[in-house]
Amino acid sequence: MRAVTWQGKRDVSVETVDDPIRHKSNDAIIEVTSTAICGSDLHLYEVLGPFMDRGDIIGHETMGRVVEAGPESGLSADDRVVVPFPISCGRCWMCAQGLCTQCETTQVRQYGSGAQLFGYSRLYGSVPGGQAEYLRVPYAEVGPIKVGADLPDHRYLFLSDILPTAWQAVKYAGIREGDSLAVYGLGPVGQFAARIGRHLGAQVFGLDPVPERRDMAARHGIEVFDFDEDAHSTIREATSGRGPDAVVDAVGMEAHGSPLASAAQQATGLLPPPAARKLMETGGIDRTAVLHAAIDLVRRGGTLSLSGVYGGALSPMPLLTLFDKQIQLRMGQCNVRSWTDDLLPLVESSEDPLGVDDLVTHRLPLESAPEAYEMFQRKTDGCIKVVLDPNAES
Ligand SMILES: NC(=O)c1ccc[n+]([C@@H]2O[C@H](COP(=O)([O-])OP(=O)(O)OC[C@H]3O[C@@H](n4cnc5c(N)ncnc54)[C@H](O)[C@@H]3O)[C@@H](O)[C@H]2O)c1
Ligand SMILES: [Zn+2]
Ligand SMILES: [Zn+2]
Repeated sequence: MRAVTWQGKRDVSVETVDDPIRHKSNDAIIEVTSTAICGSDLHLYEVLGPFMDRGDIIGHETMGRVVEAGPESGLSADDRVVVPFPISCGRCWMCAQGLCTQCETTQVRQYGSGAQLFGYSRLYGSVPGGQAEYLRVPYAEVGPIKVGADLPDHRYLFLSDILPTAWQAVKYAGIREGDSLAVYGLGPVGQFAARIGRHLGAQVFGLDPVPERRDMAARHGIEVFDFDEDAHSTIREATSGRGPDAVVDAVGMEAHGSPLASAAQQATGLLPPPAARKLMETGGIDRTAVLHAAIDLVRRGGTLSLSGVYGGALSPMPLLTLFDKQIQLRMGQCNVRSWTDDLLPLVESSEDPLGVDDLVTHRLPLESAPEAYEMFQRKTDGCIKVVLDPNAES
């Protein structure tokens, strides 16, 4: 089959690799019909490089049609399914708490990591990912969401990751009707977090340096700002001088505007792998400009909810400010299946309350992955969300 593979820093290529085969009775193989590129893939593209192996198949936002269903997979041939990005057993203590990203069966203990994830480096089990013609799905009786046949793929695809991720971010932010919420980063995750905030009745402010991302958010009732100092004072004024009740950080470690950290990230990409791994683990890659800004902006006693991914063990956190402002902090990978039953009716609704029809800017053949990664990372050609289609002619 054809698959998107990691080859090196900022280097992915589409290669012919072996088709996946079913190992276990609860595995399924799906033929991929749509697979998106995520902001998290950009971390692999650059900073998580030391944990990648040449030829790794990447991708974790995938849907398609079941072509082979193990007898205990709970699926049948031809089922149309969306595949959540975490891999979990559904039976352990963590799974029973709804914490599938901490699954005690699939945890990658060698690296002290949580549950395995599709296509996400050695840290998360080196499981072949979904930017490919076919995908093997382990524990298929647990993860995949069966969906109907009538609506187009893009209505369902984001249940694999960014919609539940944004939903979890807003739920963790504790937002109730009438609250105020600021969202840093209006990439795909931030777009949905901001819209979900509106859907739940909050006043929502969105901050992003990229104009077309601000324009998209503004179409959904978000008050938008560039990432600058004026934004903070305007948002504070609009919230009785206190700052918003909650802030979602949907940027993570690709934040723009921190040259020192950027140099350290460069270094992790250039050093020989073992040394680079050490540097990344002990904090060399920290890019925490947005995190600090969010701590500054949130009101005293408010909540900070991180969905952006951070790495590095020695981030200098402003503990004095966090303590003094009495800030609650929640974060983590998304426990996708805990939220998808709430989200499914929203993506199927003809009213499209979360605006799923207004996110994808590019649908391209799988073969275009190298150009698509570059465009998404550089934010050229108005690119906000790319879906790769293995069946499209290139
Ligand atoms: N927790 C999870 O389970 C989970 C799941 C999916 C994605 N993520 C993470 O969420 C983050 C966002 O993902 P995405 O797909 O939206 O990616 P993205 O890279 O498209 O979005 C990041 C956005 O942040 C903006 N940005 C950069 N610097 C900024 C600054 N200083 N101030 C304000 N905005 C700034 C960028 O312009 C961009 O629009 C990533 O870190 C990704 O890894 C986490
Ligand atoms: Zn993702
Ligand atoms: Zn489990």
